[in-house]
Amino acid sequence: MASSIRSILAGAGSYLPERIVTNDEMAATLDTSDAWIRERTGIRQRHRAGPSETTAAMATAAARRALAFAGVDASAVDLIIVGTSTPDQAFPSVAVRVQAMLGIERGFGFDVSAACAGFVYALSLADELIRCGRCRGALVIGSERFSRILDYTDRSTCVLFGDGAGAVFLRASEGEGNDGILSTHLHAQGSLGDILFVDGAVGVADAAGTPLSGKLRMNGREVFRHAVHRLTETVEEALAANHLLATDIDWLVPHQANIRIIDSMGRKLGIQQSRVVVTVDRHANTSAASIPLALTEAMTDGRAAKGQLVLLEALGGGLVWGSALVRL
Ligand code: UT7
Repeated sequence: MASSIRSILAGAGSYLPERIVTNDEMAATLDTSDAWIRERTGIRQRHRAGPSETTAAMATAAARRALAFAGVDASAVDLIIVGTSTPDQAFPSVAVRVQAMLGIERGFGFDVSAACAGFVYALSLADELIRCGRCRGALVIGSERFSRILDYTDRSTCVLFGDGAGAVFLRASEGEGNDGILSTHLHAQGSLGDILFVDGAVGVADAAGTPLSGKLRMNGREVFRHAVHRLTETVEEALAANHLLATDIDWLVPHQANIRIIDSMGRKLGIQQSRVVVTVDRHANTSAASIPLALTEAMTDGRAAKGQLVLLEALGGGLVWGSALVRL
């Protein structure tokens, strides 16, 4: 390898809000049913943040657990990147709020807006910054409170999403070894921006001057079609770049949007179901938080072990998508 610095994924942690909302609870106020939601998405429940479970608070809780997993304290952090589409404020960024909550003053941090691909985008950036020597210890976090941007009268979207946060700690390594982030690939197609978007932002108002803070809007069928196609493509791209076959992958940790997307990708790629980490049933779609939530689960319950190959992939509103291949 030409560059001698690489990023080791040294720890992972997550946070889920205490309150669980079941499909039956959603069906009490909406024309939907537990059977429809399970059959079409695989979702059984989602977590919903309470007032104190802000995007920054959840991100910090996940970050503390990732640091504890890695066996380091916050003084090892000199970069924080948060993938989020639901920051608590337009600024300061969630990342610097996390820095303050961790009680550190060194380094730098910023948020990445890449919807459900936010974690993969953030991981790729952190890896590049470590490789070029700008930092040595990075927290990469996905934290989302999608419950704030859902239209609870739209059954085709509001049942799909949940709140939560996940984080990993990356450390620079100059030693010998074949572990760490092996590759990342990022893509975007802005011409498809109108099939999944939020119809508002800070400072945006309608013709009558009423603020439009924005709700999520989605053409689900279209997103589904592009997701299967693009995600398969990006997985194949990652495998080819590393001269690997799908059968070499120990764990596929996909973005958790819909079990039908996950299953159809697994089938197309020939990856056994038992090698795919699934949390969508319990977490629903937590956007940028979904991959680090699932990865943390697999790294803490004894499935994903040191030395194994883990492939992450996600697609979200933009459209934006990408993958990361990591040897733990
Ligand atoms: O994380 C970012 C990426 N996002 C995604 O990957 C989401 C991708 N899309 C999907 O997961 C699926 O397209 C959905 C779960 C959103 C929808 O599933 P679908 O099988 O594509 O359903 P559909 O949109 O074709 O709708 C089928 C029917 C419609 O009724 P009619 O028109 O056939 O009478 C919908 O009105 O299901 C109806 N429907 C519902 N019925 C009960 C839509 N939502 C619901 C609901 N409960 N919650």
